[in-house]
Amino acid sequence: MKQRLLDLLGIEYPIIEGGMAYIGDGKLAAAVSNAGAFGQVGSAGRPLADFEEQIRLAAELTTKPFGVNLPIGEHSDPRERVETILKYKDKIRAVSISAGNPRPFIPVFKEAGLPVMVVVSTAMHAAKAEQAGADILIAEGTEAGGHNGPAELTTFALIPQAVSAVTVPVIAAGGVADGRGVAAALALGAAGVQLGTVLIATEESPAHDNYKQALLAARGEDTTMMERSVGGVTRVLRGPYIDEVLAFEKTRPTRETLYPYIKGEKNRLAVLEGQMEQGYAYSGQGVGLIREILPVEQVIRNLIAEARATIAALPSL
Ligand SMILES: Cc1cc2nc3c(=O)[nH]c(=O)nc-3n(C[C@H](O)[C@H](O)[C@H](O)COP(=O)(O)O)c2cc1C
Repeated sequence: MKQRLLDLLGIEYPIIEGGMAYIGDGKLAAAVSNAGAFGQVGSAGRPLADFEEQIRLAAELTTKPFGVNLPIGEHSDPRERVETILKYKDKIRAVSISAGNPRPFIPVFKEAGLPVMVVVSTAMHAAKAEQAGADILIAEGTEAGGHNGPAELTTFALIPQAVSAVTVPVIAAGGVADGRGVAAALALGAAGVQLGTVLIATEESPAHDNYKQALLAARGEDTTMMERSVGGVTRVLRGPYIDEVLAFEKTRPTRETLYPYIKGEKNRLAVLEGQMEQGYAYSGQGVGLIREILPVEQVIRNLIAEARATIAALPSL
């Protein structure tokens, strides 16, 4: 399965950059791909023209394969993004689809020759996505930063269940922050891992330094969920802004009255402008393992070396 994943994506290491709203730009995607892993340009949080620009930039900055992420529910009209992806199909190696029903989109990309990865959070959805034609599944546990699946399965519980439910490679996402996590994911049957939070705290990431420093300072218990009052599950860094949001959520808002607190602009303010008290920032629970801001290549190299050492040092039963 690991080899199948490496062959499908044309990569050296079974590590993928998760789609990341505002953060997943062309420069970061290229840095990840240049390090032998799989970078992805995210479509969330950027206007259509910028999405196109970031795809072009990634293609300029790397000769290695990279992908794009399409979170369907983030766009009022995802068809425009689909058109852009198809326009650049010769530069893009694969597409990941999240946040919505992937069924109508999978054949469109596959007909264009692009392998499709689908982000799922239960074994049942993994099986459905495979039936719909997904080539790779990204099984994301609730440790992950950002929008989570409502079932809130942990990565540890989800991965073996998803692996047992399908015949295509499964990538583990959520809470993987060092080489021990990579080794554990492989032990659970995953073909590789998807990283989010760890890649924000890198030199090439466009995150504001205040966000990077907040990640360095945070411990594993410093994340929480927002949007529960309206049926959402979104993992964010704790802080004064989130205290305000959670206090408002206690008043049982509607989606409309909560919207001013959780709209994308509030995310942008924190993560790109560094106004951490005026907006929110996503983080996964693995944040407690981030100790320094490093170049992406070093992060990937450390992960691989530590995963190899972990596997070699496993005690026998
Ligand atoms: C800042 C941030 C933004 C994210 N935006 C997206 C997104 O637009 N689309 C998506 O499919 N997943 C998104 N995710 C989830 C990541 O792709 C990835 O699965 C997750 O971060 C993995 O868990 P980790 O944060 O513990 O590494 C985001 C995560 C973070 C931290």
